[in-house]
Amino acid sequence: MAKAFAPGKCILFGEHAVVFGHPAVAVAIDQGVTASVTESSNWTLEGNRFEPSRHPHIEHIIHNVFQYEGPPLKIDIESNLFSAAGMGSSAALSNALAAALHLHINPDSKLDQVKLAKMAHSAEAFAQKGRASPTDSSTSALGGCVVVSGDRVPGTIHVFDTSLNTPEGNREWTINTVSIPSSLNDAFLVIGFTGDTSPTGKMVAKVAKLISNNPEMISEMESISKITTAGLTALSVGNLDGLGLAMDACHQRLRNLEVSTPKLDRMVEAAKPHSLGSKLTGAGGGGCMVSLTNDPTRVAEAIEISGGTPLITRLGTEGVRAL
Ligand code: MEV
Repeated sequence: MAKAFAPGKCILFGEHAVVFGHPAVAVAIDQGVTASVTESSNWTLEGNRFEPSRHPHIEHIIHNVFQYEGPPLKIDIESNLFSAAGMGSSAALSNALAAALHLHINPDSKLDQVKLAKMAHSAEAFAQKGRASPTDSSTSALGGCVVVSGDRVPGTIHVFDTSLNTPEGNREWTINTVSIPSSLNDAFLVIGFTGDTSPTGKMVAKVAKLISNNPEMISEMESISKITTAGLTALSVGNLDGLGLAMDACHQRLRNLEVSTPKLDRMVEAAKPHSLGSKLTGAGGGGCMVSLTNDPTRVAEAIEISGGTPLITRLGTEGVRAL
């Protein structure tokens, strides 16, 4: 049996704006997806018959990417991420499955994180009608703190470039990493799930429509981009207060883009007294918010009281790995 784990992600800055080529900053989190594959007499997923049309990421990885023509596989997936909630569960699934399949086909080889990031991005694009930034897929593959942008980002380590043909035109991104300073070791993220799932593709399409109907709203994307740059500078030098302030500012801009919800806003407000900064994270429209804090237990309690389900993580864990 071949088995691999890939972490979920939390976007600190730049969601939605990154689809338009602006920078986004994301960190890998403790929680993620474990995938295992083993040869079998028929195709199964979690003990049931595998139905490709219901699992486009899995179908794309197995048949389009690997062009696998071997014996049927028994596929098992375990996840401790909330799915369709902005935690990068589908990208983590793609990475974990591609890693497990790679190890199944080439048992003695090492995992290539960049190759896996590219495969997972193509699976995201396949499943999201051509609209997907490489943020989730590359953060889950590379781990740590990842900066995805249309242009080179000063002060970051360049890892690879990638592009995608989207319904809005060709998009190009550079994928970069940033070392997380040791002063951030005492900080935690508390992610709060609203309980409402929200498919990324739908939210990305909603923002695309908002911008096309109100072209002046593109300035919100530019504001998010400036906040992202300020937040990234704060993160790079270990300035927790600055990082938190930028998160608060980013939430306001995401509200202007109409991707927040009353429940997300309520949870963000509840977490504020014990946090350095709080915002929705990921696509919005439900899904999750995140708080940066030195007191994760208090924040988790506040999130729970306001109706959310909390999950505590460190910032920037290791990327996809064999188990
Ligand atoms: C989803 O986690 C983040 C978005 O920016 C979409 C994407 O980057 O593909 C909303």
